[in-house]
Amino acid sequence: MEISFPVIIINFKTYPEATGEKAIELAEIIKNVRESENVEILAAVQSSDIYRVKKNVNLPVLAQHIDPVKPGRNTGFFTVLAAKKAGAIGTIINHSEHPLNLKEIRFLISECRKEELLSCVCAGTLEECLSLTAFKPDIIAYEPPELISGPSSVSKSKPATLKKSVKIIKNVNRLIHVVCGAGIKSQEDVEEAIKLGAEGVLISSGVVKAKNPKKALQDLVEGLKKGLKRV
Ligand code: G3P
Repeated sequence: MEISFPVIIINFKTYPEATGEKAIELAEIIKNVRESENVEILAAVQSSDIYRVKKNVNLPVLAQHIDPVKPGRNTGFFTVLAAKKAGAIGTIINHSEHPLNLKEIRFLISECRKEELLSCVCAGTLEECLSLTAFKPDIIAYEPPELISGPSSVSKSKPATLKKSVKIIKNVNRLIHVVCGAGIKSQEDVEEAIKLGAEGVLISSGVVKAKNPKKALQDLVEGLKKGLKRV
C-alpha cells in the first residue's frame, strides 16, 4: 500500500494504554484525526493487536517488529507473511528496543519488498543511517535511543545531526524517505523536525501516555502543517 508523506507514525509499544481493547480506542482517535486533518498517520501496534485493530478501525497499521525467519518450522515467531495476513501494511524493523543485526535487517527488508509491505527501519546513529541505505528500505527512521521517552526531542537536542541524517541518506538514495523520532511531544518538536528535512515523525509516549491523546495528536499535526509552510 502506498502512503503519503509527511507521515506521523504512532508507536503503541507495549503500553497498557494501547493494548487490546485500548488499542482499538486509541486507533479510533487516530483515525478521526487522520480524516479530519487530512494528514497521513499510521499506527504501529503490537502483533497481537494487528488483526483486532484492522477489523475494527479503518486505519493503516504497521507491525512493531517481525522476526527474521521464513514461514515454516519456527514455533512462536512472527513472520512477514503473518503480519501481512493479519492486515499490516508494513513494519518497523530494528527499533532500538528490539534490535537486529545487519543480516537480519537485510533479510526482512527484502521479504517485505516481496510481500509489498512497507519497511521502516530504525537507525540510532549517522553511521547506521548510512549503512542501512544499502538495503533500500522505504523509510529510515533516525532515533537516538538515549532520547526515547525523555524530556527533550531529537529535533531540539540534535538538530544538526538530524539534518545530517537526511543529507547522508538522500545523497545515497533520494527515494528513501527519512523520518525521525525520540522525545517528540510538542508542536514545536514536529515543526522543527520537518523544517530540518524530516518527512515525518515517529512518536510514542507523547500520544500514548498523554492525558488527552486526541488533543496531543492534533497539536502535533498542527506542528507538521506549520513545519511544511516553513520548508
Ligand atoms: O518508536 C518511537 C519511539 O521510540 C519514540 O518514543 O516515547 O520518545 O516518542 P517516544
